[in-house]
Amino acid sequence: MKKAYVIILFSTVMWACGGGSGGGETASEEGSAPGKAAAPTSLAEAEANYKDYKGVGPVSSLELADAIDEAMATKGKEVFDMKCVACHKTEEKFIGPAPKGILDRRTPEWVMNMVLNPEEMVQKDPIAKFLLIEYNLAPMANQSLTEEEARAVLEYFRTL
Ligand code: HEC
Repeated sequence: MKKAYVIILFSTVMWACGGGSGGGETASEEGSAPGKAAAPTSLAEAEANYKDYKGVGPVSSLELADAIDEAMATKGKEVFDMKCVACHKTEEKFIGPAPKGILDRRTPEWVMNMVLNPEEMVQKDPIAKFLLIEYNLAPMANQSLTEEEARAVLEYFRTL
């Protein structure tokens, strides 16, 4: 009985050591693989590495005019006040992040995709994944906006 225990313990230790060095090899392989950046380990790292990332969703390309379209922004404020203020305050962190200045840290496409396709974004997008963790796993709600409504909200965000 005692002998069997010792053997199990011994093989467990061997397995653990083997696992440890195996992990090290994997990391160095990833590091040297051409064109494959190491996966980010924090929100700050994801934001730094994926600054130009457009996210996952229906919007792949969006050019913003230099001038803000005030009429569109007004419409966007109406949508925001109705469907987003339960979780977002414009200038301070609430249940979700404050949208003020969001285009300094995200691309317009990313913002649109986060609004229109949050479920997939938090699963697949490297920044959204860490945002979800940062916000205590409270998921961003899909408010079923049309693409036009989401675009108007984005225009409103530019005025904040
Ligand atoms: C039920 C709460 C909730 C509602 C309602 C909600 N959000 Fe969010 N939102 C969040 C949370 C929480 C996050 C942070 C990411 C996460 O946890 O998934 C977030 C993240 C975001 C982000 C990314 C912010 C950043 O700094 O990158 C945008 C943009 C956003 N929401 C826009 C909206 C808009 C526009 C609406 C209304 C149509 C809305 N949200 C409605 C909770 C909500």
